[in-house]
Amino acid sequence: MSAKIIDGKKFAAHLADNIKGEILQWVTDGHRAPGLAVVIVGDDPASQVYVSKKIKMCEQVGISSSLHRFSADTGQQELIELIDQLNQDPKIDGILVQLPLPGGLNEEQITERIDPKKDVDGLHPYNLGRLAAQSPLLRPCTPRGVMTLLENINVDLAGAHAVVIGASNLVGRPMALELLRARCTVTICHSRTRDLPKQVGQADILVVAVGQAGLIKGEWIKPGSVVIDVGTNRSEAGHLIGDVEFEAARHRAAWITPVPGGVGPMTVITLMQNTLQAARNLS
Ligand code: GUN
Repeated sequence: MSAKIIDGKKFAAHLADNIKGEILQWVTDGHRAPGLAVVIVGDDPASQVYVSKKIKMCEQVGISSSLHRFSADTGQQELIELIDQLNQDPKIDGILVQLPLPGGLNEEQITERIDPKKDVDGLHPYNLGRLAAQSPLLRPCTPRGVMTLLENINVDLAGAHAVVIGASNLVGRPMALELLRARCTVTICHSRTRDLPKQVGQADILVVAVGQAGLIKGEWIKPGSVVIDVGTNRSEAGHLIGDVEFEAARHRAAWITPVPGGVGPMTVITLMQNTLQAARNLS
């Protein structure tokens, strides 16, 4: 068997065209363009790349963006004051603070300071709570983007066994809540999970979000499954690679996302969808 490749890059480009049209209509109807504020602290190279992709996509679809750059030694209070100011700014519909923040800053306090109505990352406890309570408003970008991919390939989720590897607030936990809401039977694995190969072998849907190159061996994959690789790692040769051994896994899975070009572009386009959603809800 050779898996079908889930082309997230191509699908995200198609969604970008759609959202561009929706924003054009929104502006034609007399509203201002949606506004997104992006905050980046420090000079983590991966974060710089992600943020520039987000800003570029804003330009492409017609979202007005502002970038707030801070050095790694910025204090907590300065960031809190910026969030307060953005919360009050009537031209801003969405606020995104790129994570991780440099050591010494309290991520939780900053995330909780964002007005939940402007929390286009969906990471505020209010929005995570809404997702857990099955009445989501703004949903975390990567998990929502993965659900959009799964809907697009028409996989039957009800009753499927979904195994999520990684339990972060950013991806693993909200991913599990999304899959549960889609009526999967969900297992969450993490660094203390026993017998990872056995857990992986039971997955009809496998979502891996750890950040460890090649953690998931191809021979563990259940034949005929759907494999979603959220990991983005650099190989020794400097290439981007996922958490799953792609070449081996593609001979067992029915569907698989590549890295790069799988989940990454979906995170960016989902941020655009969330920003338009926030603008509509705030107007
Ligand atoms: N770092 C990696 N992915 C993300 C994301 O989706 N949002 C934020 N804020 N930070 C990230």
